[in-house]
Amino acid sequence: MKYLLKGGTVISGLDTLKADVLIEDEIIKEVGKKIPEEDATVIDVTGKYVFPGFIDAHTHFDLEVSGTVTADNFNTGTKAAIVGGTTCVIDFATQNKGETLQEGLDNWHKKADNRSSCDYGFHMAISEWNPHTSEEVPHMFQEGITSFKLYMTYSSRVRDGEIYEVLKRIKEYGGIVGVHCENGELIDQLIAEQKKEGNFSPSAHPVSRPSCIEAEAINRFLTIAKLVDVPVIVVHLSTKEGFEVIQRAAEQGQKVYIETCPQYLLLDESKYYLPGFESAKYVISPPLRTKEDSQCLWKGLKEDKIHTLATDHCSFTLKQKEMGKDDYTKIPNGMPGVETRAAVVYTYGVLEDKISLNQMCRLMAENPAKLYGLYPKKGTIQAGSDADIVVWDPEYQGKITAANQMQNVDYAPFEGYNIKGRPEKVFLRGQLLVEGGKLLKENQGKYISRKRGSL
Ligand code: URP
Ligand code: ZN
Ligand code: ZN
Ligand code: ZN
Repeated sequence: MKYLLKGGTVISGLDTLKADVLIEDEIIKEVGKKIPEEDATVIDVTGKYVFPGFIDAHTHFDLEVSGTVTADNFNTGTKAAIVGGTTCVIDFATQNKGETLQEGLDNWHKKADNRSSCDYGFHMAISEWNPHTSEEVPHMFQEGITSFKLYMTYSSRVRDGEIYEVLKRIKEYGGIVGVHCENGELIDQLIAEQKKEGNFSPSAHPVSRPSCIEAEAINRFLTIAKLVDVPVIVVHLSTKEGFEVIQRAAEQGQKVYIETCPQYLLLDESKYYLPGFESAKYVISPPLRTKEDSQCLWKGLKEDKIHTLATDHCSFTLKQKEMGKDDYTKIPNGMPGVETRAAVVYTYGVLEDKISLNQMCRLMAENPAKLYGLYPKKGTIQAGSDADIVVWDPEYQGKITAANQMQNVDYAPFEGYNIKGRPEKVFLRGQLLVEGGKLLKENQGKYISRKRGSL
């Protein structure tokens, strides 16, 4: 199949260019002015932006949390993703305690293979580090896993010594480690205190996980990374305090990448004081913060000090959230977002001049592609790259509502938000899969074996 996208505005991380894009089979064949039509199917994209397919490097599909499984699996989650303009996700293949990394990886392939509607790769989340796990590392690279994840909180948390050992080992192979930075031991103490005082409602959630809990963990993680002398990434950064810790390390020459998510930019802690059990929707970790924190993160994005914008999509229905009706610590943590990221970032970021179109492209396509070893196959519109393309209609107007979302959840964190702009067409490796918000064909996604990245 040959398509010629004619008359659009092609967005890259650095430029905005009026150009045609020729797609042949799975690949972008040519980008240029007035490409001859020949035998291609011509699509007039005048007045539209042409973005590389967006990459969401932080999703949790089909993940077991607190004795339940996320509402979105790879089938529903990746359908929502591609309709929202995301053509590749990097999900967290998770080693459960007692498992080998290979078992964790095999398990994730079973969940994802043949049922994904966008392309996908995996980070490996390590919850147990031992001599055998260490031996498995080179094999993970052969399997296309070049990034790893550690938690400093939850039951899967690792100790400082383990973080040190993992960083040393991954450094040998040129991979990158991302960490969920929150001090798990202190959180346990603060939770116990809240319960002792009789606070069992979601309003106790942010009290159990204050900003300093994130900032302290970041500082400790970066201290370890400095000892090992290796670049690292802090995932889902939520606080100004944490941001400042990272900037101090960066000023001293340390290479630290930052990921944040739309919820930390647009929602705040007032959500924990909603009537009834409404607040449970926003029980995520790290929790929502203050407006001042959000402002700091927007500024960090504007100044290119924050490198990627992902969703941390980890969805649970209200019924599932009800598990914590009498005890907020039993509410499965997480919220949906994989479907709405681009529309929300465009409407509330680009149109409000908080970031540019090119920054949107960098944060959601080019940078994650580079950082995680997908570039230039993905994350860019140039000859030879995969034809993962979003034709963005800047004139579309709509409203986010749970009633018409693809995500398999019965609420939308951004319910009622007005949206300007949406993906009008989405191509995945040259196949037109989304048109006018409708998915034309499912299960076309492939596993992407990744190389070592660098940004
Ligand atoms: O609450 C959240 N974010 N759940 C997903 C797991 C994680 O911490 O990334
Ligand atoms: Zn193998
Ligand atoms: Zn996390
Ligand atoms: Zn996460």
